[in-house]
Amino acid sequence: MCKIYAVASQKGGVTKTTTVLNLATALALMGKKVLVADLDPQGSLTICAGVQFPDKLTHTMYSILSAALNEDRLPEPSEYIMKCSNFDLIPCNISLSAFELNRGHEIGAERALQTVLEPLKERYDIIILDTGPSLGILTVNAITASDSVIITVTPQLLSAVGLKLLISTIRKIQKHISPSVKIAGILMTMCDTRTNLYKEINDIMENSYSQSLRIFKTIIPHSTKVGEANLHRQSVVTYDKQSKPAQAYMNFAKELIKHG
Ligand SMILES: Nc1ncnc2c1ncn2[C@@H]1O[C@H](COP(=O)(O)OP(=O)(O)O)[C@@H](O)[C@H]1O
Ligand SMILES: [Mg+2]
Repeated sequence: MCKIYAVASQKGGVTKTTTVLNLATALALMGKKVLVADLDPQGSLTICAGVQFPDKLTHTMYSILSAALNEDRLPEPSEYIMKCSNFDLIPCNISLSAFELNRGHEIGAERALQTVLEPLKERYDIIILDTGPSLGILTVNAITASDSVIITVTPQLLSAVGLKLLISTIRKIQKHISPSVKIAGILMTMCDTRTNLYKEINDIMENSYSQSLRIFKTIIPHSTKVGEANLHRQSVVTYDKQSKPAQAYMNFAKELIKHG
């Protein structure tokens, strides 16, 4: 049975895209059939996955979501799903911001992605959704379409503080739109476990959230290897599989499957 995960956070720069890319690669290396979808108009995942000219694509997340909302017939998956080295991708580009601006208020807008993904579930073991830094209609679509949300938190005060808003948004989606969506857990990323900052934020997370939510045992370390891998349009898992962040993402994939 296919499982859909959204990787979300109310903030930018907290490793959502990196986590999607590396989790997808790690799961693919474990033999899973994986689809990733880019719901951030900045298109970072699309670029990191190796798409060279996102602005020249005929079909993107924007055209597919618009077709779903218009109740038009969707194109064949082979027309809009791209094959990357380890996984498949529904790409996007900046045009996706028009969905947020122009279509978000329409009836059914929050379920457009669910409509797109439903027929794809029989083709994949796992679908992972990358989201942008706002809690607007695109992120609401991703959470609504998912079975579980993975929340990334970095050891910075604002990352931990904004978490409340995201959790309350997920609770509202559970209440009003999609009762079955769950929070898979909180993934601590970009961590240097020796610093006081990490220790303090970790204490805040343990004290405030560990009773009600899973905090994943795997911690993704801060490492310059991640930036190097990005530069080469690769996941760190394929760029340097012995490196600490690569091993951590492999462990995270195993932990996620175990508690799936
Ligand atoms: N474990 C890590 N160690 C060091 N830098 C990281 C790590 N994970 C991500 N980064 C860097 O942090 C920046 C933001 O990551 P990104 O995944 O784009 O965040 P988001 O999608 O939440 O905006 C990128 O430049 C990325 O290379
Ligand atoms: Mg991103």
